[in-house]
Amino acid sequence: MINLKTAENIPYDRVRAVQWEDDRLSLIDQRLLPSQTVTVAFEHLPECIRAIRDMVVRGAPAIGITAAYAVVLAARDRHRADPAGWRRALLPDLEQLAAARPTAVNLRWAVDRMRHIVESATDADPVARLLAEARHIHAADIAANHRMGGLGMALIEPGSGVLTHCNTGALATGGYGTALGVVRAGVAAGRIGQVFADETRPWLQGARLTAWELVQEGIAVTLIVDGAAAQLMRQGRVRWVIVGADRIAANGDTANKIGTYGLAVSARYHGVKFMVVAPRSSIDMAVASGADIPIESRDPAEVLSYAGTRTAADGAHAWNPAFDVTPAELIDAIVTEAGVVRAPTTTAMHALMGL
Ligand code: MRU
Repeated sequence: MINLKTAENIPYDRVRAVQWEDDRLSLIDQRLLPSQTVTVAFEHLPECIRAIRDMVVRGAPAIGITAAYAVVLAARDRHRADPAGWRRALLPDLEQLAAARPTAVNLRWAVDRMRHIVESATDADPVARLLAEARHIHAADIAANHRMGGLGMALIEPGSGVLTHCNTGALATGGYGTALGVVRAGVAAGRIGQVFADETRPWLQGARLTAWELVQEGIAVTLIVDGAAAQLMRQGRVRWVIVGADRIAANGDTANKIGTYGLAVSARYHGVKFMVVAPRSSIDMAVASGADIPIESRDPAEVLSYAGTRTAADGAHAWNPAFDVTPAELIDAIVTEAGVVRAPTTTAMHALMGL
């Protein structure tokens, strides 16, 4: 079993946002970064669902891992309340949890893994087995990220500039990160010479979280406003755009943070390569194409205000889709822990998934 703690033998792996400590789930509250680093403990399911919905924790793999630990908490409460009927009471809890955010498939994937243990558990008290499964999901995610870091950075020519979007790092995963894991590995290997990060309006995952994470690691980062990406590409300053995924459809279409699609269009126009980095838990082979991926619509207030203060003109309305879909044809490589798919197609995705 892989260590859940930060890895001393791997450079730039010092941040963990999701942890199980003292029989509780603890999360860094990502709404408060970078000005405050506050860790909050969770002991019951409803507050975990709220934490996912309100983005105390965010990022597809981190949401999945949080959900796995949340099932442990829910089972503990249900078992304490009714040792004979805990299973029946827990099943609706799992549905509620899986619905907390709609786009990241890792959430439902993790809940399904935990449901399988719930349904097959013969133990009088299921908590130990569920906790072992949650820890396994967590450790496997970190291991996948380390592997993807190596596979992804091998695609990058030494000394390249890269651009990343949103936050796909330790804060968004079990640790190390997907796209940001490739950035970590690429910087460590000298393949990445300069890291640019989009601010990522409206929630500012890039400015607040990616920049914070890279500063913690001592990796230089240059922020750009989202609208500067095309100009950066035109000037030839980046050779790769590297992003994560919330859900990859069976044909390789990829849902990710709003703005990703525009980056892919711009990258193709400028001859910049486009890499998606995601574990297989982000791939949903039940969805044929991106058209079938549910896209979360968030509160217009996220666009109209910042930190509770209105920034838009009174009377203006806002449309706030949290994700968009990048067509597979704009993706040069999908990097997973099981290997790299270049120019993804349904056939290649089936082969990757062993189907
Ligand atoms: O709304 P968020 O912050 O949860 O969106 C996160 C993203 O879009 C990430 O790029 C994605 O989850 C991959 S994280 C490894």
